[in-house]
Amino acid sequence: MRVLLLGGGGREHALAWKISRSKRLTKLHVAPGNAGTSQVAENVNIRPTDFEEVSRFVEREAIDMLIVGPEEPLVEGIRDYLEASGKHPSLAIVGPGRAGAALEGSKEFAKAFMARHGIPTAAHLSVTRENLAEGIAFLQRQRPPRVLKADGLAAGKGVLIVDDPAEAARELELMLGGKFGKAGERVVIEEFLRGIELSVFALTDGRDYKILGAAKDYKRVGEGDTGLNTGGMGAITPVPFADAAFNRKVEERVVIPTIEGLRADGIPYKGFIFFGLMNVGGDPFVIEYNVRLGDPETEVVIPRLNVDLLSLLDAMDKGLLREMDCELEAGYRAAVMLTAGGYPGPYEKGHVITGLDDVRESLVFHAGTTSRDDAVLTSGGRVIAVSARGDTLEEALQRSYNDAEKIHFEGRYYRRDIGRDVK
Ligand code: AMP
Ligand code: GLY
Repeated sequence: MRVLLLGGGGREHALAWKISRSKRLTKLHVAPGNAGTSQVAENVNIRPTDFEEVSRFVEREAIDMLIVGPEEPLVEGIRDYLEASGKHPSLAIVGPGRAGAALEGSKEFAKAFMARHGIPTAAHLSVTRENLAEGIAFLQRQRPPRVLKADGLAAGKGVLIVDDPAEAARELELMLGGKFGKAGERVVIEEFLRGIELSVFALTDGRDYKILGAAKDYKRVGEGDTGLNTGGMGAITPVPFADAAFNRKVEERVVIPTIEGLRADGIPYKGFIFFGLMNVGGDPFVIEYNVRLGDPETEVVIPRLNVDLLSLLDAMDKGLLREMDCELEAGYRAAVMLTAGGYPGPYEKGHVITGLDDVRESLVFHAGTTSRDDAVLTSGGRVIAVSARGDTLEEALQRSYNDAEKIHFEGRYYRRDIGRDVK
């Protein structure tokens, strides 16, 4: 198979690494990729949201399968565009069309979907400028803290959690006034859920599904979950507190009703689904859907799959997922993210990374790197994810921290408490 993978972060390096080991692979391209993906694939300089260029490349290179890493092209309708072009009748696409991608692209759509299909989630009110007064009254009635979410994609920054009702009302007006651009023209106000967060990853062909694993990521930049939100500072899988009983509830109350709900609504869906969950006293509630894999969760989830990934994705495309086995490796995996000085604020770029060849026990996935001559340079806020396996979580963490310490670049930072809260 000839494969094109869109994206250029740690998620894509982990996917590219796994795909490069598939016996079904003839040629793998990654667009735009990074210094890590160039070790296992050929990078091509195409923006994932440049649908025309993607289409031309697919045609010219006789690509059999397109895998979409990030959400933006999906929400903008890359599948719809390629299908409507009529130029790629046999192309397999991993990722939903625009209608399914609205599960991530519109919080309001996701909330209405969950209400319609009885999927547990926080109570909410959807507010625009037309019902602002109703929104403010709702905020006053709520117990603190108040949760405000911009409806559309806001690069992970569209969620505010505010205690004071007057401040919440001010923020609501700012959001509706354009603080997050078009994404905030509609705001979802939610009840605050108290519990522990985790994510569950699945692949579906729209009828059957395979659970790829549960993971926990660490979103805040500082140790003890303090400081600003980031894309994710580390991840572990599986999640010790997600036992068999909890996982059964997730499948019965969330995963199955979601896939059946999509079918009932006439929305075809072929791709990954990421269920962002809160474990509230042993019961799962959906915080958000994503229509892609998580980053850095992919860096721990994908290496655990004891399956030929292209065979699995091919079966998914053909609607034959039911016939596939998807075994998970025993033990645990942990990933530690090395970030650039300043991240998640304005950060430094262009520093030389050394020590990559000294890593022995971990997989090194590049998140924000580029190569120049023979050197690997930092080019993003999240730079390298160091992912290791262990029979216990402790062992996995020890190995990834041990190897993380060998990789150097100016300004390097990482959290030293990944996985500590669940042991
Ligand atoms: P989201 O972009 O919807 O994932 O929200 C970002 C983060 O805000 C989540 O990862 C949670 O930590 C937090 N959050 C969102 N919604 C809620 C909620 N209803 N209750 C508690 N925390 C929430
Ligand atoms: N790590 C969270 C995400 O990918 O959205």
